[in-house]
Amino acid sequence: MKKRLFLFFVIGFHVQLHAQTNQQKAETLIKKMSLEEKVGQMTQVTFAVIAKGGWGNTDGMVDPAALKKAVIDHNVGSVLNTTAHALSVDMWRQIITQIQDEAKKTKLGIPVVYGLDGMHGQTYTLNSTLFPQNIGMAATRNPALAAAMAKVTANELRASGIRWNFAPVLDIGRQPLWSRFPETYGEDVYIGKTMGAAVIKAYEEDGLKNPTAVASCMKHYLGYSAPRNGKDRTPTYMPEIEMREYYLPQFREAVKAGASTIMINSGEINGEPVHASKYLLTDVLRKELGFEGLIVTDWEDIKRLHERHNVAATPRQAVVMAINAGIDMSMVPSDFSFYDLLIEAVKKGEVPMSRIDDAVKRILVLKYKLALFDNPYPEVLARNNFGKPEYQLLALDAAHEAMTLLKNQNKVLPLAKNTKVLVAGPSAQSISALNGCWSYTWQGQEEQWYPSDSKTILQAIQDKIGAINTTTTTRKGFDDPMNYDAAKLTTAAANADVIVLCLGENAYAESPGNTRDLALPDEQLALAKAAAATGKPVILVLTEGRPRFITGIEPSMKGILMAYWSGKKTAEAVADVLFGDYNPDGKLPFSYPRSMGEIVMYDRKPTEEVREVFNDNVNSGYDPLFAFGHGLSYTDFEYSDLHISSAILTANTKLTVNITVKNTGSRDGKHTVELYSRDLYASITPCIQRLRAFQKISLKAGEAKNISFTIDKNDLAFVNAKLKTVTEPGEFEVMIGGKKAKFVYQ
Ligand code: BGC
Repeated sequence: MKKRLFLFFVIGFHVQLHAQTNQQKAETLIKKMSLEEKVGQMTQVTFAVIAKGGWGNTDGMVDPAALKKAVIDHNVGSVLNTTAHALSVDMWRQIITQIQDEAKKTKLGIPVVYGLDGMHGQTYTLNSTLFPQNIGMAATRNPALAAAMAKVTANELRASGIRWNFAPVLDIGRQPLWSRFPETYGEDVYIGKTMGAAVIKAYEEDGLKNPTAVASCMKHYLGYSAPRNGKDRTPTYMPEIEMREYYLPQFREAVKAGASTIMINSGEINGEPVHASKYLLTDVLRKELGFEGLIVTDWEDIKRLHERHNVAATPRQAVVMAINAGIDMSMVPSDFSFYDLLIEAVKKGEVPMSRIDDAVKRILVLKYKLALFDNPYPEVLARNNFGKPEYQLLALDAAHEAMTLLKNQNKVLPLAKNTKVLVAGPSAQSISALNGCWSYTWQGQEEQWYPSDSKTILQAIQDKIGAINTTTTTRKGFDDPMNYDAAKLTTAAANADVIVLCLGENAYAESPGNTRDLALPDEQLALAKAAAATGKPVILVLTEGRPRFITGIEPSMKGILMAYWSGKKTAEAVADVLFGDYNPDGKLPFSYPRSMGEIVMYDRKPTEEVREVFNDNVNSGYDPLFAFGHGLSYTDFEYSDLHISSAILTANTKLTVNITVKNTGSRDGKHTVELYSRDLYASITPCIQRLRAFQKISLKAGEAKNISFTIDKNDLAFVNAKLKTVTEPGEFEVMIGGKKAKFVYQ
């Protein structure tokens, strides 16, 4: 009897252990931790800190003494980043194994969580698959494709032993000067919300313990993308009504989608650095949005409260400010100053132990969720998920769907495959200008790290129509002076039927991408003028991360293809579109401005529409070179029979909006049907239009489909003067493909 009772207890205890939530496990562990161990968990250092030769390291070798100093002496909980460039998948596995071996030697054996920036594919593993930047993914209007891309990224990260991805960027792209514009989903809130949530689910939905998932990190909370002067990490001034209407919803949605972590904006809003904002970190993020995951700083941002922002008089005060505001983990990342200062601050009573325990709990919960306590080592199974052939096909699908045909005068495109083509311009033989930031290096410019089968636009065109039909005036690399030789271009054009002129931007990331001017550089404009002057049709291919002004040259270009930075398969996708093997379906995710004085967004306010007679009464206020949502196809789509299920919508009902879309041309094609709404009168000046829903469909030549959208009052809401998201009674309009219908919300 006694024995049976004992057994009963043992089994019961076991069941209870298993039933323990990650929260409970974390709480149990915290009770065993010293202050030093806790603060160590909150410390994140960069790889250079543990690498042989520090920042000079290029081979990924770990320095055992430096590793010991970090993990054993400072109890470091997290490591990030690479030193110089991407490393092989096996080198990453070796690094992670060494780090976890060291962590096992600590008193409590708490595993280390490693984080990397897998922004458009796994940036820092050699031969990973790179996809379009977010701006290109937004042009696809295909959240399923974005999700598929995220799954590949997760697999390639996890194959490399990495379980934490610092992505996606959820900052909205409404400031085209900003150097991180390419990392955004463009100017619209709904696209940002939809794409962001799809990607986060894809990263995490398999369950973080599974070798096909990674923890996501929504970033950079909040208002990072709105620097007033356009320069990275410079002040944002933003009324809260604007913040809540345009910047916060993506994060709210991402929290709902289950994002495990969040990274904070390095900048300041209205004079308050976000890393020191208890209001944004605790009141809004924790209490209002209900985010329970881990809050990590961006690079050095606690130090910068003292060194750059000058709101903390001492480095310790900076630590106190940030931790008390709600930061859980500091991306210190190059030394152990944070560790020393936070211990000191706690001992002095400047940071309560309850705040430390709260932060550590969130870090440990993440580690439990990631199953790092069960097996912190790179999984054998995960290794097989690296570099599968189908990833290349997916990269091509994504690049295809990103391609946005902006102009096709007299149907100059697609070109016949026996056309004699002169391929010119600095992007013609550049790989980096097709991939952009976060491509095997931070800046993406070092082409030696790209996979050897990466193609240039010139190569892809040669593959398509034969070397015999292709000439060029360019050399490898974006900056070669020969690429800018307009006289050579003029001469070479004599033997060509068409000039494919590849202009735009070479790769850049963050502050190095700051620019003084959004106009394309003069030497590129000169090439365009020389090309046009030959009298041959010129097709402009733009490989760029943000809209560079082309207003002066646009009229003389017969065709314009926006290729963005679309990753590994950009060149193939460009060639497929130019020669008709792919029918383009991308739609601009931003308004392509004419010039600095014409930066107006598609969801403008009524008074942005007004031009007074003494000024300019010809154009409407919204007069971009190419509108948000613009994108041509080689076939035509016609809309008819817009029908709404009722002329009245109430708080408890839904409205179904139907429309027929027909492919009236002679080619099959994909097409995105977009539903916009307009609130005719409201207590806050209403937007002229807001994108509320979209569906991407495929239509065979001649085929028609009935498309149905269902909306409710939440789809029509806006932020009012009291900062509440509301839908006010009154008259509304829905607009799809130039058709409109009115209804009343009551
Ligand atoms: C960037 C982040 C990135 C971090 C780590 C920072 O400079 O702003 O987006 O995650 O570096 O690489």
